Amino acid sequence: MTTRDYLTIDDFDVDGKTVLVRVDLNTPMDTEGNILDDMRIKSHIPTIMDLEDAKVVLVAHQSRAGKKDFTTMFPHSQRMSQYLGKEVKYVDDIFGTYARSAISSMEKGDVILLENVRFYSEESIERPAKDHATTHMIRKLFPLIDIFLNDAFAVSHRSHLSIMGFTEILPTGAGRVMEKEISSLDRGIKGGARPCIFVLGGVKVDDSLKVAENVLTNGGADRVLVTGVVANVMLAAAGVDIGEVNLDFIESQGYTNQIEKGKQVLEKFEGKIGLPQDVAFNDGGKRVEVHVSELPDGNLPINDIGLETIVTFSEEIKNAKTVVLNGPAGLSEMEPFALGTHEIIKAAVNSEYSIAGGGHISAEVRNLGYEDKFSHLSTGGGACIDYLAGEVLPGIEALRAAATRYNLNR
Ligand code: 3PG
Repeated sequence: MTTRDYLTIDDFDVDGKTVLVRVDLNTPMDTEGNILDDMRIKSHIPTIMDLEDAKVVLVAHQSRAGKKDFTTMFPHSQRMSQYLGKEVKYVDDIFGTYARSAISSMEKGDVILLENVRFYSEESIERPAKDHATTHMIRKLFPLIDIFLNDAFAVSHRSHLSIMGFTEILPTGAGRVMEKEISSLDRGIKGGARPCIFVLGGVKVDDSLKVAENVLTNGGADRVLVTGVVANVMLAAAGVDIGEVNLDFIESQGYTNQIEKGKQVLEKFEGKIGLPQDVAFNDGGKRVEVHVSELPDGNLPINDIGLETIVTFSEEIKNAKTVVLNGPAGLSEMEPFALGTHEIIKAAVNSEYSIAGGGHISAEVRNLGYEDKFSHLSTGGGACIDYLAGEVLPGIEALRAAATRYNLNR
């Protein structure tokens, strides 16, 4: 007997139907537009294979407006075609005439991928399903679609148009990625082996501080260790002069206001947040270790946690029973600065239940060949930690609401 409170592919007759699937293909890419890691692309293949009798319309995003990798979905369609063993047709449109005629002329077994849905600015407005349902995009696509599936766990913490807009007006369920994420993360939460440590790194400072606050307030974690840009912000919040170039970087990401937020979090959770004791500067590509009490007046970027921090954090992580890693500890794509991320990953696999979330850190787990040593590699970054922190993810709530409606209407 299943305890699911949402519908899945198994609950629908998809034969010959047009199924719109929101997937998360947001992928690390270099400045030439090459895909650096295709874990998310690969992750959706089982969902698409289970829809082989349907006409599958994929909707996805790549990055955010203003970022260098905010680009077309063409490379994603090519990579997906390779994995699927048949063409995933790239359609250079989202809901205009070209997209609609491409959908209308599909045959059973066809798969198309529409253009980056965030090229349409209304996509990223956070609002409830009923408001999204009346937008142009939904009105234009709705008559062509029979079933909506949300397989984009990784962006289901955002109440965005393509996550919410169809859920109140079409039969709606979860894809295979979504199902696996919910069941694996639930196992992690319910297992609850203590101590539980969250290690929060990467660049999404706002999301990370929110999670630190949540898990420490609701008792979801015993300690939070910070690395990456999150750590730089927290060091600045603790009064450490991290240097102009690092402050400029924080500003360029729009996170200067998070320094004040960081101060409040540090005060509120005294002793519960582990900051780096030392950092690794990038001096012309060379790694230079400096204790935070001795930071020079220089203009060098901090690109990793330092060796002393690696040792103390690793020790703490090894002694934890549940470890959740999110975001890399440093610039893991540059060899000298991947050390912190790699050592933290190696320490985490000693715990009873280990979860890694976020594209970049999951990529490093795979680079190290540690995939099988983790209890669960989440496709989500912010979505994963929000879920673990006990937050309600709008995309998942919408699936539950749709299931209730569906059962009531039967
Ligand atoms: C992610 O990479 O975490 C998801 O695709 C969501 O992306 P976002 O943080 O830009 O909304």
